[in-house]
Amino acid sequence: MVRVIAFVALSFIAISFIGVVDVATVFAQDQSVQDQSVQDQTGDEGAMEGRGSGLGVRRGPGAGRGFGRGFGRGLGRAFGQQQQGAATHGHDDRHGADHEVFQFLLSNHDKIRRSVKELPNGVETLTESDSPEVADKIREHVEWMAYRISNSNPIRMRDPLFAEIFKHTDKIEIVHEDTTNGVRVTETSEDAYVVKLIQAHAKTVSGFVEHGFDEAMKNHAVPDKEESAVAVVSRPKIVGHGDVVQLSNAVQQPRSGTKILVDLTRGGEATGLNEGIEKVAKYVNIYGGAGAEPADVQIAVIFHGDATLAVLNPDAYAKKFSTVGNPNLDLLRRLHECGVELYVCGQSLISKGAKPSEVAVFVETSVSAITTVANLQADGYAYVPLGN
Ligand code: HEM
Repeated sequence: MVRVIAFVALSFIAISFIGVVDVATVFAQDQSVQDQSVQDQTGDEGAMEGRGSGLGVRRGPGAGRGFGRGFGRGLGRAFGQQQQGAATHGHDDRHGADHEVFQFLLSNHDKIRRSVKELPNGVETLTESDSPEVADKIREHVEWMAYRISNSNPIRMRDPLFAEIFKHTDKIEIVHEDTTNGVRVTETSEDAYVVKLIQAHAKTVSGFVEHGFDEAMKNHAVPDKEESAVAVVSRPKIVGHGDVVQLSNAVQQPRSGTKILVDLTRGGEATGLNEGIEKVAKYVNIYGGAGAEPADVQIAVIFHGDATLAVLNPDAYAKKFSTVGNPNLDLLRRLHECGVELYVCGQSLISKGAKPSEVAVFVETSVSAITTVANLQADGYAYVPLGN
């Protein structure tokens, strides 16, 4: 409540100062040479664009500093007003204030320590300073940068890495929490390429901390899209089976609504998992996470030929092959739980000396493989044979 009242009051003051923006603009012009050098070091082109109301608000007595921490979300409205221009030029009401913070942090880089832990889906960073003033500026900076990310409001657009990050803000999640001396940030993405961008950015920030302005004057490279596309999938549906890699930018992406019928006749060692079942797990994982987005898929499997007896219940299987249980059942059950329809050909079953009552509970006995294939193909399932 106090924040809301403060926001309304300060917004009013801010609006009043926009009214006297001419005075502020004169002041801003006096400052332009000095500010241009700040822009050069911290990295934005076209420093004078969009200055008027930004500096008017920022430099007015009281109101200027009020833009900072804590007040953030409220003034975000004003900040958002110029988003369209900002999307292309990287300038907005908050631009000048952010540059002051960059300038301050870069000047005090030797008072900052930072550690970065790479996560499979991003980074966790800890950036701190024993100087309370510097620690507070770090927090202010992070709060506003997180705000820029969540509102796609770019800055430092002449640097390729930053320009690329701001193209993918919809796929970035930032969570930050204050620590006694600074801030801990967890920045993640479900997209393998964006994970690489986040990690490259974290390295760049560490470079700012280590080298200050020398690093801020450099441009930073964008990670290779192809390389980052080849990563072990982060959320396979069936863990431990059917490994896939995520290829977010490849063609022929998984399409939602796909139906696949696997015609499984492949046999194998009675003591081990049937390879064909492992392949089905791969298909499930491909649709569950190998493309840019997971896609709904309906997969059915018809077991016949050499694969028929892979679906027997543990006792029947053990009796038939002198094993301890059936090594296929754990994965078959997990496939069933993922929605895969499992059928066995009744003709094959009986011709191999087994009965429908000996089939595992999550597998259905159909009249025959041919009826299953014909029916499901008529229902729009794509036919995928998995023979020996
Ligand atoms: C010593 C100087 C600086 C420090 C200590 C610092 C610190 C941080 C921290 C802690 C984050 C959160 C993400 C992370 O931890 O990796 C961050 C994000 C960000 N910083 Fe800085 N920064 C500095 C300089 C700069 C400069 C000079 C710029 C641009 C001109 C900048 C632009 C950004 C942007 C755009 C983000 C959000 C993008 C993202 O997190 O993906 N920073 N900074």
